Amino acid sequence: MTRPVTVLPSLLSADFARLGDEVARCAAAGAKAIHVDVMDGHFVPNITIGPLVVAALRPLTDLQLDVHLMISRPEPYIEAFRRAGADRLYIHVEAVGPRDINRAIDALIASGAEPGLAFNPDTDPLMWLPAIDRVAAVMIMTVYPGFGGQDFIAATRPRIQALRAARPQLPIQVDGGINRATAAMVVGDGADHLVAGNAFFTDPDPAAFLAWAEALGGRA
Ligand code: DX5
Ligand code: ZN
Repeated sequence: MTRPVTVLPSLLSADFARLGDEVARCAAAGAKAIHVDVMDGHFVPNITIGPLVVAALRPLTDLQLDVHLMISRPEPYIEAFRRAGADRLYIHVEAVGPRDINRAIDALIASGAEPGLAFNPDTDPLMWLPAIDRVAAVMIMTVYPGFGGQDFIAATRPRIQALRAARPQLPIQVDGGINRATAAMVVGDGADHLVAGNAFFTDPDPAAFLAWAEALGGRA
């Protein structure tokens, strides 16, 4: 089976003093989209960037900006990130909860960004299928969110497989610990889009890493 696989470099592993150059490096390596990690020090124990930085990057690149909101109350910020230039916005279901998820998805859709839902390693996406059926993409965290460079959690693999079996056409993204050792596993499990922070930015030849990982789709 041939399936397009894409790699999204995660800016979290970039040199934050030279973000513009790092975005250009992603484009030069052949990336079509960049993953931007937004952390609030509450939903996750780390703080990164806000809409100002997304807005500063937007005029520098035509690459899609894939914005991962790891924040406790995403709803009030959806519009701001969209205005800043986010093409796709992922919110965490754990941050919103079952009672408010439909309202949050309404806000995502109303923003005009491509709506996405993200799932922590210990959340079962199959419990959220009605919500998943309202969005364009799903992201399975393969580490506990908060930091780059963590080890891939193999126990998340059955989640990817089960979601792929339940929704054969759904774009599934994975995020955390993706490298030359784990990329083939998750593509085999059914992932289409691979976020790669450390693996991309520490590779001496990031273009070769990206081409290698994207070619896994042809072997899936
Ligand atoms: C982790 C972030 C990831 C992170 C992945 O909370 O959501 O996007 O940048 O980094 P690596 O690929 O280094 O695990
Ligand atoms: Zn992320």
